[in-house]
Amino acid sequence: MSASGPLLETRDIVKHFPIPRPLRDLVRGRPSRAIHAVDGVSVSVAAGETLGLIGESGSGKTTLGWLIARLYPPTSGEILFDGEDVTALTGRALRAWHRNVQMVFQDPLGSLDSRLRVWQIVGEPIFAQEGVRGPALRDRVSALLPTVGLPPECLDQYPHEFSGGGRQRLSLARALSVNPRLIVLDEPTSALDVAVQAQILNRLVTLQKERGFAYLLITHNVAAVRFVAHRVAVLYLGEVVEVGRVRDVLERPVHPYTKALLAAVPVPDVRRRRTRYRITGEIPTLITPPPGCRFAARCPFAVERCRTEPPALREVSGRPGRLVSCHRAEEVGDVPPEALIGPAGAVPPVAATPSSGASSGADGPGSDRVTRWST
Ligand SMILES: Nc1ncnc2c1ncn2[C@@H]1O[C@H](COP(=O)(O)OP(=O)(O)O)[C@@H](O)[C@H]1O
Ligand code: SF4
Ligand SMILES: [Mg+2]
Repeated sequence: MSASGPLLETRDIVKHFPIPRPLRDLVRGRPSRAIHAVDGVSVSVAAGETLGLIGESGSGKTTLGWLIARLYPPTSGEILFDGEDVTALTGRALRAWHRNVQMVFQDPLGSLDSRLRVWQIVGEPIFAQEGVRGPALRDRVSALLPTVGLPPECLDQYPHEFSGGGRQRLSLARALSVNPRLIVLDEPTSALDVAVQAQILNRLVTLQKERGFAYLLITHNVAAVRFVAHRVAVLYLGEVVEVGRVRDVLERPVHPYTKALLAAVPVPDVRRRRTRYRITGEIPTLITPPPGCRFAARCPFAVERCRTEPPALREVSGRPGRLVSCHRAEEVGDVPPEALIGPAGAVPPVAATPSSGASSGADGPGSDRVTRWST
């Protein structure tokens, strides 16, 4: 048990998915290949903190979430929880440890068993962890439902009887039923309309204040990250390219990929639009990632060194607490994100911040979040 260290820490965590070899490759002795979904990621989440995880589709966000929730065994690397190495836990010990880290999945309907009623779905972790069943379990779930904004009377309903937002509330109730320390939220609001998104995000922030949960918030929605997260990590092709306090990273991104990702968010200052840098090039394959910087083929600032030497994730001088993996971080740091343009589809646009109704204010460890998001 560590008093001052992070609640959750990954050290150089790797997840490669082997690609089944066709018979002719086996016969010819060709080496096996794998998808490098997560490739040496070191991140941490403090108790009561929200770490946002952003990156375009296929960058490894969900895989990292599953690794952290110990739903996938890693290929290599370590996962520490409260300072203890939990990487090798299996069987009963792993099942008991799952009480600490629960997950809200990307697709609420797909992750909720349609044949089960609300009390069975939400109560399943309580049954698994504590053996509570029958009327006692119904009572526990009934007391839990109002904390996520659902009426206790819906105990005997089925998931399909709920709206998208209602189903996501069920997933959330299920995740917090065993009072975990960390909840991994995988795109928790991506299927919801803006008003319902706001309700769920507000509920998450309230629950965190009241019960001290830590969150790993996986999303492509920058506005949601800004609202809920204290710090943010940016993932590109299985690697972390930038980490820092949420407002710092979103307002003054240093890594060229972070800038490109944020380029769709409008900035009113037209004087900052003088120089334009075009994002071009192919996205490298995750089966044979390039030897140097993985963003080099698309980066307008790439130099020869970038194509041969992988940049290390390091603190950028003059920006305490900001970790960036770019050889030229100091030189390109002040280029504004809107200066990076590209052909349609080069870097998918991200949701712009819905500034109406969101107000800045001190809130939680980062003091960087907006305090309430209304529509
Ligand atoms: N179970 C799996 N088997 C094989 N490949 C996978 C599996 N899960 C994810 N991948 C691959 O790993 C990469 C990262 O996927 P994912 O973690 O889902 O990214 P994201 O959540 O950022 O969209 C993708 O190329 C995806 O196709
Ligand atoms: S290391 Fe080079 S290619 Fe990679 S982001 Fe930095 S400047 Fe661009
Ligand atoms: Mg995903």
